[in-house]
Amino acid sequence: MIEGARPAAHGPSGKRVWRVVLSSEDEVDIYSTFKGFRMIRPSSRTAQFHYAIRNIVGAAEERERSGLAVTYLNIGDPQAYGFRPPAHVIEAAARAVRERFTGYEHSSGLREAKEAVAAYATALGARTAPGDVLMTAGASEAADLLLTALVEEGDEVLVPAPGYPLYPAILNRLGARARYYALDPRAGWLPSPEEVESLVGERTRALLLINPNNPTGSITDDGTTRRLLSLAERRGLLVISDEVYRELCFGEPPAPASLLAAGSGAAVVTLESLSKTHMVPGWRVGWMRFTNAHLMPELVRAVHRLASGRLCSPTPAQYAVRPALEGDRAFLEDFLREIRRRRDFVSSSVSGIEGLSCVEPAAAFYAMIRVDDPERRTDERFVLDLLGETGVLVVHGSGFGADPATCHFRLVYLPDEAVLGSVFRRLAGFLRAPAAPRR
Ligand SMILES: Cc1ncc(COP(=O)(O)O)c(C=O)c1O
Repeated sequence: MIEGARPAAHGPSGKRVWRVVLSSEDEVDIYSTFKGFRMIRPSSRTAQFHYAIRNIVGAAEERERSGLAVTYLNIGDPQAYGFRPPAHVIEAAARAVRERFTGYEHSSGLREAKEAVAAYATALGARTAPGDVLMTAGASEAADLLLTALVEEGDEVLVPAPGYPLYPAILNRLGARARYYALDPRAGWLPSPEEVESLVGERTRALLLINPNNPTGSITDDGTTRRLLSLAERRGLLVISDEVYRELCFGEPPAPASLLAAGSGAAVVTLESLSKTHMVPGWRVGWMRFTNAHLMPELVRAVHRLASGRLCSPTPAQYAVRPALEGDRAFLEDFLREIRRRRDFVSSSVSGIEGLSCVEPAAAFYAMIRVDDPERRTDERFVLDLLGETGVLVVHGSGFGADPATCHFRLVYLPDEAVLGSVFRRLAGFLRAPAAPRR
């Protein structure tokens, strides 16, 4: 599939050469052969926007077009694997569509949704007023608005590697730079505050925490988060805390960064959503909330100014926020029990296959699995070969900023055990099979 093209050079007899970008991330050059050939070109700022979780799907769709089946384990959407949102949340949105005003809402969000988020955050221990909340189309839009309001070209934000790839993608688009701090698998994927501090430079504006993290399913302990908050305070950095998985922990959840920062001089913006916890990723309902907003009044105003341009986030879904945060939570225990069972299944399957290893995930529904590949392929080559030979689609670790040579891949373990069992049988067979000749 062709994803884009840009003029590359001039070819024989002065003809324009076009570089065509394919979905596989390969590139080929073609020559314009007739007069007046003019391609409409995208801006150069899109060229660096990579989002591996979706990009890899191109290869899977090609396989399906040739009549072969694909088992998709690449996207963290509970509904895609048969989970359903809780009935009271569905009912609130459906009733809103039938009976309430669902036109353009205030650009900062529906009043009752902001009040519910503020009450929820205050109950967590981070005193928050409705005015400290901005409702967004998922945590993704919150990330986009916040980073756009924050960084200039050439600025830097410290982001975890491996970590969720949307942040570096947005930064690239803005002409800013993600500086990666390492999460160490030998330390349960913990960051090192010393290393984080060593990366702070003149242009560093913010420190991103993703806790629990995607793709590792790991939790950063509160002691480490406190140290990171205090270094951010000392070095004048904004802390962006992505906590979309905080309620999906198999044991004790981490303390919210906003709670740990309360009363300190750290400026924290927390990003949350209903996408994962309430299994409604397609509703696009999330928010950002400011802690110690007095330390960033201009930033808060800038974010609101940007938000006014997109009019509002989806209105019907915002009516579901109060029931979601204040209503019955038994569904969450059921969901957690189900995914924990799958986590256990994945852990024992991984340890039963020679050449695979994994730090046991403590939250969410992702496992970052390491392959000791005798063929020493890069992670992306491994993932494409696995797809080609078994139909199993996972995402290569370097799509999340991991070193491609360590050969990790992320597997979404939301499918039931029958599907996961078949996936691991195929994986084991693939690893045992003599190397087929590969491109
Ligand atoms: C860590 C993390 N943050 C944010 C998001 C985006 O979620 P939302 O649907 O709220 O935009 C995801 C989605 O997978 C994620 O894994």
